[in-house]
Amino acid sequence: MSLAVDPRAVESLLAFWADAGVDATYSDAPIDRLAEGAALLRAKSQPAAVVAAARPILVSNASPDVSTAIAQARAAAAACHDLEALAAAIAAFDGCSLKTQGARQAVVSRGPGDAPLMIIGECPGPDEDAQGQPFVGRAGQLLDRMLKASGLTDRVFITNTVFWRPPGNRTPTPQEQAVCAPFLERAIALVNPRMLLLIGGASAKAMLKRDEGILSLRGRWFEWTSSDGARELPALPTLHPAFLLRQPAAKKKAWQDLLTLTERLDRPERPH
Ligand code: URA
Repeated sequence: MSLAVDPRAVESLLAFWADAGVDATYSDAPIDRLAEGAALLRAKSQPAAVVAAARPILVSNASPDVSTAIAQARAAAAACHDLEALAAAIAAFDGCSLKTQGARQAVVSRGPGDAPLMIIGECPGPDEDAQGQPFVGRAGQLLDRMLKASGLTDRVFITNTVFWRPPGNRTPTPQEQAVCAPFLERAIALVNPRMLLLIGGASAKAMLKRDEGILSLRGRWFEWTSSDGARELPALPTLHPAFLLRQPAAKKKAWQDLLTLTERLDRPERPH
């Protein structure tokens, strides 16, 4: 007996589940997507010529797959001479296992390519995954309101430490961040901002290679250094707007951080 399925009924059921907040489906039996991603990486890995190209990024327990993926990301990023090429290279890159764990598309950046401030968040969430732009969900809307109140709208280039949504909205792992880092570094080189605002603990820890929690890091200036040591930028960690949505009393601290940031950003640069 064949079962006729009315597509409108399916659409309506899916819309019902989406309204109820269901944005992923699961099979009865567990599937190890990490193993699948690792197998994909192994299949795509290239010979060691690329691996030798540059200084290693320090990731504890970096497996050969991760080291190979980092080297491939470095080579791909180095070949990009503008942000458009970089976005295309990221979208075409298969070395980050997040790509095979349910993300719909790469989420790279938004904002002017010559912005004086670069904001680096943690990772795309469901709204960003659906729309292909960073910080467009509820947290992003709060971020936009904060930027507007600080006079920073249109002066920021916004991106994340990883370019694919982690499954179940988990925090990206240090390995996933390390694989994406060469692209992020290339974005910093191409935009050439005067400073970085690091949003949330996972961003601050990855960018500054520090282990403290965000509540201790926030509001303090650090020096971000590129992996080849050639570029340094002032970097200010702050609280994530998703945290502020859950803990509105913490908004005061985030506001103080933005005042600290704008004071330095608007300070006239001393002639060298
Ligand atoms: N949270 C992030 O850290 N980045 C986004 O792009 C969206 C939410």
